[in-house]
Amino acid sequence: MPGLKAWLSGTEPKQYLSDADLNEIGVKYWVIDADNWKAEGKIDKICEERNYWNYGHKRTTREMVLEYNKEHLHEQDEVLFFLDGAGYIEMRDKQERWIHVPVVKGILYVFPAGVYHRLRLETDVCNRLSIRANKKLDPTESGLKYHYRPADEMDCRKQYLERLSAGNFP
Ligand SMILES: [Fe+2]
Repeated sequence: MPGLKAWLSGTEPKQYLSDADLNEIGVKYWVIDADNWKAEGKIDKICEERNYWNYGHKRTTREMVLEYNKEHLHEQDEVLFFLDGAGYIEMRDKQERWIHVPVVKGILYVFPAGVYHRLRLETDVCNRLSIRANKKLDPTESGLKYHYRPADEMDCRKQYLERLSAGNFP
């Protein structure tokens, strides 16, 4: 089964992270049949189990996410599922190094609340599902709130660091 190939940024040859390494920093992922996701039912099941909410199709342009290339965090998990397009997320590991996570079609990603990260799209347009980690958010809202670094005093950041040292992510 194809997995998620993430690597330590700047390494050549690329130093890949195992699923266990990713788990340790709170990254979760599932392989999804992107052309058949509705019938497959896997996304619905994950959303139900993790209390996520799928608002359906969303078209995103590169311009819309330019600001997201600045290092930031969120109070909720960031859940990404791309139907096309390409890009990457970079997130910090335990030693504050950047981990490069390619964002590709067919993988549902969860980046935990409180982790510093940044996103860049490499295609002008991408289609994805808008999945939120909080059902209480108004579906008409534009999305997650962005807190740029430094945001070390936020509760979600402190909680993330506790989970990181305990190696225990829900
Ligand atoms: Fe983000």
